[in-house]
Amino acid sequence: MSVRVVQTKPFEGQKPGTSGLRKKVPVFQQPNYVENFVQAIFDSLEGFAGQTLVVGGDGRYHNREAIQTILRMAAANGFGRILVGQGGLLSTPAASCVIRAKGAFGGIILSASHNPGGPHGDFGIKYNIGNGGPAPEKITDAIFAHTQTMREYKTLDAPDLDLERIGTQQLGDATVEVIDPVADYLALMRTLIDFDALRKLFAGGFRMRFDAMHAATGPYAKAILEGELGAPAGTVVNGTPLPDFGGHHPDPNLVHAKELYDLMMGAGAPDFGAASDGDGDRNLIIGRGIFITPSDSLALLAANAHLAPGYARGLKGVARSMPTSGASDRVAEKLGIGSYETPTGWKFFGNLLDAGMATICGEESAGTGSDHVREKDGLWAVLLWLNVLAARGEPAKDIVQAHWREYGRNYYTRHDYEEVESDAANALMAALRARLTDLPGSRVGDAEVKAADDFAYTDPVDGSVSRSQGIRVLFADGSRIVYRLSGTGTAGATLRVYIERFEPDPARHDEDTQAILRPLITIADQLAGIRARTGRGEPSVIT
Ligand code: G1P
Ligand code: ZN
Repeated sequence: MSVRVVQTKPFEGQKPGTSGLRKKVPVFQQPNYVENFVQAIFDSLEGFAGQTLVVGGDGRYHNREAIQTILRMAAANGFGRILVGQGGLLSTPAASCVIRAKGAFGGIILSASHNPGGPHGDFGIKYNIGNGGPAPEKITDAIFAHTQTMREYKTLDAPDLDLERIGTQQLGDATVEVIDPVADYLALMRTLIDFDALRKLFAGGFRMRFDAMHAATGPYAKAILEGELGAPAGTVVNGTPLPDFGGHHPDPNLVHAKELYDLMMGAGAPDFGAASDGDGDRNLIIGRGIFITPSDSLALLAANAHLAPGYARGLKGVARSMPTSGASDRVAEKLGIGSYETPTGWKFFGNLLDAGMATICGEESAGTGSDHVREKDGLWAVLLWLNVLAARGEPAKDIVQAHWREYGRNYYTRHDYEEVESDAANALMAALRARLTDLPGSRVGDAEVKAADDFAYTDPVDGSVSRSQGIRVLFADGSRIVYRLSGTGTAGATLRVYIERFEPDPARHDEDTQAILRPLITIADQLAGIRARTGRGEPSVIT
């Protein structure tokens, strides 16, 4: 089988973002499109001859076709061993786990996360490095540069491999191993979570529902919850990955997982409810009668992680993205451990985890994780929650309310204004930036501004500086409003406004979030002129 060099034209793709290259499926179906991007990845890497590459995706439309292409190209470019999940499946956290467990050089993950799939849906390709985490900017910049200049790619003339048959097949000079996508991940979870306690929990009648949203986590959740831990069959719903996610939007929020939410709030709700997204890195956590915000979930997991074997010796530190509420800071302070505030995006946690400075990290956008892999991990968060519930023997709602009584409650909401005209969104941010020095000491309505800045982050490990990461307005009473533009939207601009108020008084902890934040929401509009500048009276999404 000989290597074939195919002539191609430089790629007219946009710069890949932090989550790799994401486009509609028909874009990826164009001749040479996948090939060009994959060759650009390989051309950006050095020293992989004979090494191991991990390949897998979230099972969405075009996954299998892209994987066959990548296998041939990886072999032609000189990788020695390629590990691919059976059926082409690997959740994002499992891919990160396999890269680390097998000492791979890196991995290619095919996913567009929580975006819809199917023939007209989204597809994506991203590269992860040997620590199991997303490629740093140095590599993504190099990939982009190569896409602009490349003239050829390398592949093999070889038929498609059988992705269903577990075991080794030869492809040119490389061996391709089709692996059980769950095995390494399950082995890792066994070392972190008290599986015996969880077996007893389910044997004792504890009931939960896990909505896999017809996405990548289904096989993992079934194997672990129903297989290993003895939860009754049917605990995992929508557990079969489908190329179009059953026509649904695999985003585990209160809109797209509404059925689960309604179940958990209604009479006869099970003890616990959870969901994860297309590629399994995001999570939704709902106790009976209580939705637990990702910011609170991070704080609660940090406060209780020592109850699980993997964290019994305590945490080194807790990291959160800047717009995530300050609830976890209070836990870190009480535990006397490091607390870090990073820009939005999982890649900023990588250095802190690698350096042993943080153990648990999270984002308000439903991402929670720990140093066990280098991606956020939806099912891990669910298992850690179950471990906490088993160890404490109390309902989730009681645990959350006790946490608020102890630490105070960070009321929190995010308002998204989607598909705003880009010029209007940029002008709004520029106008806020221009006022940063005037704002401190001024009053907006009844509130006094204490400080305002455009968030900049100096990585404590490598000293790199990331500027302009979002505008923070801090008020004298500890409340906070953050404005930033999304880096992942596809149409126009998405303005995200994050509103937070700290309430120490337990007597007020039952109040409605939107109601208690109403005065601050009004101030957020007054400060930025959202309605005037964007023409939007209401956000498109409230979380
Ligand atoms: C969004 C989330 C962010 C997350 C990213 C990738 O980015 O807000 O927390 O890391 O998706 O999953 P944004 O669109 O806000 O730039
Ligand atoms: Zn995702």
